[in-house]
Amino acid sequence: MDALKRQAAAKALEHVRDGMQLGLGTGSTAKHFVDLLGEKVAAGMKVVGVPTSEATRIQAEQCRIPLTTLDVIDRLDLTVDGADEVDGALNLIKGGGGALLREKIVAAASDRMIVIADETKWVDALGRFPLPVEVIPFGLAATQRMMAKAFAESGVSGQMVIRKGKDGHVFVTDGGHWIIDAHLGRIADAPRLAGLLNPIPGVVEHGLFIGLATTTVLAGAQGIRVIER
Ligand code: A5P
Repeated sequence: MDALKRQAAAKALEHVRDGMQLGLGTGSTAKHFVDLLGEKVAAGMKVVGVPTSEATRIQAEQCRIPLTTLDVIDRLDLTVDGADEVDGALNLIKGGGGALLREKIVAAASDRMIVIADETKWVDALGRFPLPVEVIPFGLAATQRMMAKAFAESGVSGQMVIRKGKDGHVFVTDGGHWIIDAHLGRIADAPRLAGLLNPIPGVVEHGLFIGLATTTVLAGAQGIRVIER
């Protein structure tokens, strides 16, 4: 599986040109991309990156990739990131690694977003992977009630589990928030659900990425498939 992730990352690297401003994703697949990009930079390629998590920032610094922020530059040419699920419209579930907020800010500031994944991430409909929703701890029960209403209105329901870290304590995101993993099953209308979650006050962001990915690179045993939106 790791070899497939690296193949997808290598394919995405073919889209990177000298002088580009890049969003750098988070997770085990994006990690390969940052490694490979580091090799290009060491060989003389000039790019600048905006990392989507503290983990990626640390890795990129180790690879000596020059970094900047969206306070300094206003657009990115390309973001390359992984995903937990991708559907036929290139809508995504992201946030399995907890970085969905910065990932979405960076993707939304990018002209293009290439999703890199092994073929197990390709689905008919989103939702088998629990939907990560980043929330403010204050008033959590009220937020969960509003989330349940949004789920019902879009025809889904399921358990909401507050994410815990490996140490057994509540997982805290880079932004200082918590994550609720919503076990919904098949989400028939992901854009509608995203629209219903967006205005809930205690929801900082959710892992439905609608209309952001422009390309998906899927690596499987039969080879690499590139799907454009
Ligand atoms: C991080 O928050 C996530 O959105 C990741 O991009 C996603 O979970 C994919 O991670 P892997 O490449 O490790 O499967």
